[in-house]
Amino acid sequence: MWWKNAVFYEIYLASFADSNGDGIGDIDGVREKLPYLKEAGIDALWLTPFYPSPRVDNGYDVSDYCAVDPQYGCLENFQSLLEEAHALSIKVIIDVVFNHTSTAHPWFIESSASLESAKRDWYIWRDQPTNWESFFGGSAWKLDQRTNQYYYHSFAEEQADLNWRNPEVKQAIYDVLSFWLAIGVDGFRFDVINNLTVSDTFVDNPIGADGKQVHLYDVNQPGVMAVLKEMNQWLKTVDPDIFTVAEISSDQLSVISSYVEEAGFDTAFNFNLGSIEDLDLKLLTHEFQEMNARNYLPTLFFNSHDMSRSWNRLAREDRGTYELLSVFLLINRGVPFLFQGEEQGVGDYLPSHISEIRDIQAKNKYYEQCLFVETQQALLFANEVNRDRSRGMIPWGASQQTGWIGSSPINPEGELISSVYQELIRLRKAEGPFQVVTNIQLENGCIRYQVEHLSVVLNFSDLSVKQNISKKVQTIYGKGVLSEDRQWVQVPPKSCWIGKEEQ
Ligand code: GLC
Ligand code: CA
Repeated sequence: MWWKNAVFYEIYLASFADSNGDGIGDIDGVREKLPYLKEAGIDALWLTPFYPSPRVDNGYDVSDYCAVDPQYGCLENFQSLLEEAHALSIKVIIDVVFNHTSTAHPWFIESSASLESAKRDWYIWRDQPTNWESFFGGSAWKLDQRTNQYYYHSFAEEQADLNWRNPEVKQAIYDVLSFWLAIGVDGFRFDVINNLTVSDTFVDNPIGADGKQVHLYDVNQPGVMAVLKEMNQWLKTVDPDIFTVAEISSDQLSVISSYVEEAGFDTAFNFNLGSIEDLDLKLLTHEFQEMNARNYLPTLFFNSHDMSRSWNRLAREDRGTYELLSVFLLINRGVPFLFQGEEQGVGDYLPSHISEIRDIQAKNKYYEQCLFVETQQALLFANEVNRDRSRGMIPWGASQQTGWIGSSPINPEGELISSVYQELIRLRKAEGPFQVVTNIQLENGCIRYQVEHLSVVLNFSDLSVKQNISKKVQTIYGKGVLSEDRQWVQVPPKSCWIGKEEQ
């Protein structure tokens, strides 16, 4: 399967590359960057939603699944992008948001019009709400005055959840998938796909010891696996080469993995590792070991459009640490997903005023906090959860306008970082595919592992570390120095070493 050896690159369209000077990234901007991406060694792109949308959640509130939002271009532009990418042997997967639609979607407009609407049952309507909370804060139920019933929205109130119990909804979604398959996309990233509402028992969620709601009855419900398994089986009969990756809203490996093992996705995002809050080597090693105890290929990433960038969050702006993380991502078993700008060491963009915040989650946090604290303090709290941090415009240079959002900071060491990524991707292609990882260990601040015929030592500590070597190897990457008798290697602080077994 093509995706097993591919290096993916996530493009958050609005902030990637702007081709027409309106300050908003667009599809032609991606086209113009294809040679750059090819040169960087990228094999596949994941494009975040580009569908028509009121953009309450910046495109994750879709009002037409089978079209392109004019701010990004048109369907012909998308088709040209696909053709040009394919001509360069770059695959393209698209983001599909099937848990909810925008309330501006014709389906919802029809559903909400009356109790007798033919599409009434396409969404989740109730006379009484439960205590379920929205993932963006506040109640997940909104009273609609027209029919005096509540509809369910697990995210913003403008994102109404579809009712997956209804076979018509399922069929409508299959039609959307067929539409994009006919256009020629190579796969799909399924947004918060474990949130689908498939049961009709609505029980209040319990409150945990920390006072926060435990999302027991609104995610991972009985029945969701069967629905998704059927969809995946159908997709594979249409085209076995189609790649499917699930976004599961959990950082628990057992939950994440169950959607690959039971529902048949090719893989799923490993938030258990990718979104860790700081560089906790014990946790990292543990999750890495657990991921490799499973049969399927995990995903490997430290960045996305939903979290603070690893340059700040994990590397704390240290280039040595950043390089170690990139070795871990690329010289390893798994499917790496880079996020735009990561290969240039782009850092977090931090709004300095509420008027600059674009992320709905951060806006909600700000206004909620304003009831209790001064605005400056509220801004700090908002920025702690602000997903704009990773969504600043990519600083390509003077030609890139900023418009809808400010620019991400340029990393002065960006060129060096890019050449490291490029070299590692080259090495991955030359030495891979990497299917087996063994001997994963953490010792003295060093993570080491064996991937196929390569020994990898990542020294995250501030001290030089000596590591014994059991096989006849030669150095192929890194600052580690092999002893003359090749019995051990000395790895300087915050550096790595990769040795290759002699044939
Ligand atoms: C996913 C997306 C996120 C979006 C949410 C709701 O988590 O990655 O950006 O806000 O789903 O669609
Ligand atoms: Ca534009």
